[in-house]
Amino acid sequence: MDPGSQLIRLAVFGKPIAQSLSPRIHGLFAQQLGLKVDYRAIEAGPKSFPRLVTELAKSGACGCNITAPLKRDAWKLAARCSASSSRAEAANTLVFFDTGEWYADNTDGRGLVHDLESLAGFSFSGANICLLGAGGAAAGVLAALMQAGPANIVIANRTASRADELAERHADLGPISSCTPAQVASWAPYELVINATSLGHGGTAPELSSSWFATGGMCYDMNYGPAANPLEQLCAQKGISYCDGLGMLVAQAALSFELWTGQVPQVADVLHQLRQAAG
Ligand code: ATR
Repeated sequence: MDPGSQLIRLAVFGKPIAQSLSPRIHGLFAQQLGLKVDYRAIEAGPKSFPRLVTELAKSGACGCNITAPLKRDAWKLAARCSASSSRAEAANTLVFFDTGEWYADNTDGRGLVHDLESLAGFSFSGANICLLGAGGAAAGVLAALMQAGPANIVIANRTASRADELAERHADLGPISSCTPAQVASWAPYELVINATSLGHGGTAPELSSSWFATGGMCYDMNYGPAANPLEQLCAQKGISYCDGLGMLVAQAALSFELWTGQVPQVADVLHQLRQAAG
């Protein structure tokens, strides 16, 4: 049978989910690779998720993506998981095998590194990096950032104990420190400052100073769409080079797509189409 004629069933679970760009992104991957994909957005909270994801797996689907607030639940449900998923204690991807076994991975960190290196032209070697935030978003990317080989990563968080705990949990991967937002300047200059806080969803941005940045340094916002506007505007006012997280979103999706289908989508093409559509 022509592999392109077989329907690949996929879904993303989360709450809220209507705003998700994942069905669109995976539809574009399918178009690019000549595959037939049925990718649904399914609203689920922690209570309904185990039942709904089991139904999906039983329906013959290859796997699913998982977004807030279910990433930890998804990691717990899988029999096996990748190193990145166990380090983050969270999964954004489940693969359903024919044997009935579920495998969990977390492609967020590799997606971020891919976007920074391939699309934004960032070089990790020798870089001093500041990661703002120590919640689920930060935990999901920290191991991949460390493995990319920077000189040092400083985690800055309002609640100091969360930054300390995250730094301790990754200390075996290389030089890593933690501090409060007020102490960020003392570790400067940074080649890269990453915003992994949830402030953008409330219409605000973390405090940043242009004096924190090394020459050619940049700010990468893990937010995209309206949640990215506050920090983009702040960086424009302060003359700081800025990149939103849309490229990370497409790159993490491409890694999930590869896990399910064995085929590698072209990230840059799909990102270009999304940016054009957003105007
Ligand atoms: P996510 O899964 O999106 O990371 P989260 O786990 O709730 O969500 O984490 C949100 C992050 O944004 C945390 O680092 C949080 O700081 P605290 O650990 O101190 O709560 C940060 N954050 C949210 N609101 C903030 C605010 N008003 N000021 C500073 N940091 C804030």
